[in-house]
Amino acid sequence: MDNVRLRAVVASDIPHFFEHQRDPAACHMAAFTAEDPGDRSGFESLWTGILANERIVKRTILYDEAIAGNIVHFSQYGLPAVGYWLDKAYWGRGIASHALGEFLTIVTQRPLYARVAFDNMGSQRVLEKNGFVAFDRDRAYASARRQEIEERVLILRT
Ligand SMILES: CC(C)(COP(=O)(O)OP(=O)(O)OC[C@H]1O[C@@H](n2cnc3c(N)ncnc32)[C@H](O)[C@@H]1OP(=O)(O)O)[C@@H](O)C(=O)NCCC(=O)NCCS
Repeated sequence: MDNVRLRAVVASDIPHFFEHQRDPAACHMAAFTAEDPGDRSGFESLWTGILANERIVKRTILYDEAIAGNIVHFSQYGLPAVGYWLDKAYWGRGIASHALGEFLTIVTQRPLYARVAFDNMGSQRVLEKNGFVAFDRDRAYASARRQEIEERVLILRT
């Protein structure tokens, strides 16, 4: 997919990411979201911290050079994890699958984990297409659903 590219995140990307994560359908899908996706200053300070943190690997996902989303490698519950978020306008074109494949050539740490809402089939598929397999199940509070829900933990072993 020639039109999908990852590049370093710059501060001017943050307002775009903010808009992406405000979308109600996307929030419902992701489930484990910010308590208030409309909290711009909270989101900006979170991402300012991510940009300053060299241990967090982060990339902006470009589609035809437009900002389509972000992908991040961070420590979650003490385990190396990956997460991503794509602007709804870009869903369903294979962009997340391709972006994760590229990202896994940058982040070579294994095993690598991802946590996904039990019914987020799109994200589970993105992971499976890149070699992740079922590892565990958990329950956690999902802000976007205002309740505790089941979470699937997937692992990439090699
Ligand atoms: C999940 C998300 C990243 C998927 O991005 P995407 O670019 O649309 O995914 P792809 O086009 O690469 O699709 C990958 C696979 O998932 C499937 N898929 C995508 N969305 C789906 C959905 N809502 N339900 C079922 N399957 C879905 C696709 O059909 C494809 O499978 P296939 O190749 O076997 O046909 C995107 O919807 C998103 O950002 N959602 C909001 C944030 C989020 O949920 N982040 C992940 C948190 S764990």
